[in-house]
Amino acid sequence: MVLFHVITLDGPVGVGKSSVARTLARKLGYRHIDTGAMYRAVTLAAMERHVDLGDPDALGRLAHECDIELIYHGDGFSVSLDGRDVSQAIRDPEVSKNTSPVADSPSVRKRLVSLQRRLGLQSPSVLEGRDISTVVFPDAFWKFFLNASLEERARRRALQLENAGKTVDFEETMKSVHYRDFRDCSRSDGPLLVAPDAIVIDTTTLSENDVIRLILAFIHSPVHPVQDG
Ligand code: DC
Repeated sequence: MVLFHVITLDGPVGVGKSSVARTLARKLGYRHIDTGAMYRAVTLAAMERHVDLGDPDALGRLAHECDIELIYHGDGFSVSLDGRDVSQAIRDPEVSKNTSPVADSPSVRKRLVSLQRRLGLQSPSVLEGRDISTVVFPDAFWKFFLNASLEERARRRALQLENAGKTVDFEETMKSVHYRDFRDCSRSDGPLLVAPDAIVIDTTTLSENDVIRLILAFIHSPVHPVQDG
């Protein structure tokens, strides 16, 4: 069955998916489901409980034990881990650094994918992540893949960190973005891939508003440029 009320948005680190997904969801009256936040919440739990990041099964057991929720209020959502608001804590650079082994664990992915499917079917949603179009909701009608050059994504990531008051070394940021690209693309389970029927948007020279306008134009057009040939 084709799903018309689930919009999928995949793409690499630093491409601006979160801001686009947030605004798109607000404009459409949909829920914004940030699946990366869920991988981050499991990572934070693993760090706090000293679970071995090199043990995918232990990470999987942890993911099954944790209660992860996105709690919606007004314009946004907070991320809850076992009843505690961890929205800020999961954005810490130490957490970002440790997400890859957690996201590589097939057992973690199994647990989070099932949570994401349940959430996405509860109400009209925009889901952002890496494997949403290919694994979580391959039957969504509108699937988008955002991309941008490595330099531009590193620049956006550095700006984000600077705005959060962090000191930024651009070369280091670029290396870290490059490393996370490698991990995202090379995992055997749920790698970052372009779904055959996804609409690919290169955002390198586009503003966030341009990207949102483009996506809305596709969604409101009578034909699907990929599915309708
Ligand atoms: O988008 P982000 O940086 O918040 O994602 C955090 C981590 O989770 C990153 O390592 C990629 C991974 N991730 C994933 O494997 N699958 C998803 N659907 C979303 C994120």
